[in-house]
Amino acid sequence: MPDSFSADVASEVLASGGNAVDAAIAAQFVLAVTLPEAGNIGGGGFMLIHKDSEQYFLDYREMAPAAASRDMYLDDDGNVIPNLSLYGVLASGVPGTVAGMWQAHQRHGTKPWAELVEPAVKLAAGGFAVPAPLARYASAFARKVEGKHPSVNFARYFGAMEAGERFRQPELAATLRRIRDQGPDGFYRGETAKIIATFMRKNRGLITEADLAAYEAKWREPIVAHWRDLQVVSAAPPSSGGIAVVQWLKMYDRALAANPRPAHNSSEYLHLLAEVGKRVFADRAEYLGDPDFYPVPVAELLADEYIAMRAGELNLAAISPTPAIQPGLQESEETTHFSIVDQWGNAVSNTTTINLGFGSGVVVDGAGFLLNDEMDDFSAKPGVANAFGALGGEANEVQPFKRMLSSMSPTIVLRDGNVKIVTGSPGGTTIISSVYQSILNAVEFGMDAQKIVDSPRFHHQLWPRDVIRHHTGLDAATRAELQAMGYKLDDRGFGDLQVIVERHGQLEAASQSSGRGATSVISIECPAKHCL
Ligand code: GLY
Repeated sequence: MPDSFSADVASEVLASGGNAVDAAIAAQFVLAVTLPEAGNIGGGGFMLIHKDSEQYFLDYREMAPAAASRDMYLDDDGNVIPNLSLYGVLASGVPGTVAGMWQAHQRHGTKPWAELVEPAVKLAAGGFAVPAPLARYASAFARKVEGKHPSVNFARYFGAMEAGERFRQPELAATLRRIRDQGPDGFYRGETAKIIATFMRKNRGLITEADLAAYEAKWREPIVAHWRDLQVVSAAPPSSGGIAVVQWLKMYDRALAANPRPAHNSSEYLHLLAEVGKRVFADRAEYLGDPDFYPVPVAELLADEYIAMRAGELNLAAISPTPAIQPGLQESEETTHFSIVDQWGNAVSNTTTINLGFGSGVVVDGAGFLLNDEMDDFSAKPGVANAFGALGGEANEVQPFKRMLSSMSPTIVLRDGNVKIVTGSPGGTTIISSVYQSILNAVEFGMDAQKIVDSPRFHHQLWPRDVIRHHTGLDAATRAELQAMGYKLDDRGFGDLQVIVERHGQLEAASQSSGRGATSVISIECPAKHCL
């Protein structure tokens, strides 16, 4: 049974005349209550907005605290200390979600802020019936995280969840009331900030009241690229997602210019896109990081000549040797996503995260919300992979106030200025594959929304060597052919893809069937000239 807490609240906001941004803000706060493994006020994310023919990209990614330092996860011998960037208070960046929602509201919201936060307050105070998968997941996580760091207190808050029973979160409700009544000051200053900073001091964490007061969500230029007759608009750095999605789509087309199109999810198709993925992830590891700290060569990485040069390196007959793939320029698993289109044709694609499921396993005592373990998305040491197997170097090393590199790729695809696809997914580095494949499924293979999200997907990220990760569902012959080529297959699932697609003049919405998400398409009476 899918959970529809946030979809229901978003639908109510839309039905009562709110726009897509209003609905997104309300959904984000509800997810902080009903989806504790990923929905959050203790994490961050990216919101991509298409409104009145313009696109806006909001970066509310977490930020390293002032006392963070490059080698903070290394021991005296220079080795990475296991789990320190994943569990406990040192794993958390300064949360960005509340500032992000506030910025989105200030610029594009139409309904009163308090009205949008209120549904979350009610769900936290009054409780909600715990879905069985959440109860199972929380109890497994409570066992897994026990003893990982002295500050981990997850079990005390979430360990006793029972399927079907009402789960109330009074501390979280009080925090949400402060946010409802005071806006961002209800989180970044005053009582909530004091609770967070006191908790951090007590547990030898780094986040201070000054760090919280200094946090800023930022409007940035989105990645915009022309691909075929479409405009792909996606996440800019500090996400790697938009650059990677566009590189993947463009290199695919370059390869097709000289080769026949392989059948969907055939071994030839997977191999071609795995070859592209190797190049995409070599570039990601070398060049991508927070643009406020590192000069990310965005234009160079997306230039047609560069894409053509990289596509020329693809070997469609055999696997290119992994160590030979170098960055090309000369010189995550949890998270959650929602897509919304309103009656005026405005769209929001929003991906938000506390990094791995239930984040750091630390609940701010007295404030009732889980803190992220996003610091693991930094590169703790060159050549040492993070939890998603991703490598990095100087571009993504830890520095005070820096944002860690992300793979979140909220994306909107337009044709002639109108929304064609709104897509996004959780899943760490596999997010990028889910997103570009959802676009190919829609555009190249003409699938309906449900098929787009339910078709088996796959992912290759250069390292580990020659491993293709895939959703179970790839047919046995394709798997055998890939293994014969030398690929190793990893069948860990991907995150839940959430898509809205326009087909034959109608909007279709779909949430991956195997996941916990829900979709809703509502009819709104309105004069034709004001409607989609
Ligand atoms: N924490 C997963 C990501 O941002 O890519």
